Amino acid sequence: MSVDRLQDEAGAERERHEGVLRYYTLAKRAEWQTADLPWNDVPPIPETRGSAQKRARRTDIWRSVITQQYQADILAVKMAAQLLNLAPHHEAKMYYTTMVQDEARHVEAWLKLLDEVGGTAERDPHLDELARMFLDDLELLEEKVFLMQVFFERLIIPRFRLIARSSRGTVLEDLCNRLTIDDGIHHGAGMAYERVLLETAPPQTKRKLVDAANRMLPIFVEHALWRPPARAWIGRAMHERDVQRLREDLDDGVRLANSLGLDVSDVQLPY
Ligand SMILES: [Fe+2]
Ligand SMILES: [Fe+2]
Repeated sequence: MSVDRLQDEAGAERERHEGVLRYYTLAKRAEWQTADLPWNDVPPIPETRGSAQKRARRTDIWRSVITQQYQADILAVKMAAQLLNLAPHHEAKMYYTTMVQDEARHVEAWLKLLDEVGGTAERDPHLDELARMFLDDLELLEEKVFLMQVFFERLIIPRFRLIARSSRGTVLEDLCNRLTIDDGIHHGAGMAYERVLLETAPPQTKRKLVDAANRMLPIFVEHALWRPPARAWIGRAMHERDVQRLREDLDDGVRLANSLGLDVSDVQLPY
């Protein structure tokens, strides 16, 4: 092989990975510390006036919201560590070192916030199920990147926006705004890397991705609509809007899969 040809191939290889490397730089630039949150300037969660009972009930609701996101970020720490470990490409490994740190920092912030509001509430059983699936059942790196970064981290962003909107002027709002940006980067990096991985993936792998999406989506729906006892009454009141919003988010997920060249016409949307 001529030197020119070798150089060309090396150049093409570099270009292929440039997308992922760009997210490494972005993640570095967006990095923050939990000390940057306005702990001493604003209340941790929205303050409620009224009877002690009413205030306690409100706090319970926020505790359950925070617990669910804390649980999701514990899953994200474990997933990011697996991805860092499994990714064979240097650029991807570099990127995943930032994601491991991001997710650990998210857990740190949730823990500090939980400490301010009196500890954790009930666990979301559907999130536990998703964790088992992502961490233990999925075998291929392509599947893990696809379900975690392409779907899960994309679907979770509107939830952060929603929490931020209902908790103006609090540490919780500030945190959710940061998470919107971080998970935007995690999702973008996943799209870029999945594209690289799928270039050389055999058709069976693509088939497996669609199957995995079919197994994951119904559980994700259960997770998104799940309300612990503290929030059950809100759950009922908002069910229809939640379902509508979820349907739009899932449609987005399918569009993204299409843009990766995956034929997801077989994906059964649970709604
Ligand atoms: Fe996170
Ligand atoms: Fe994330």
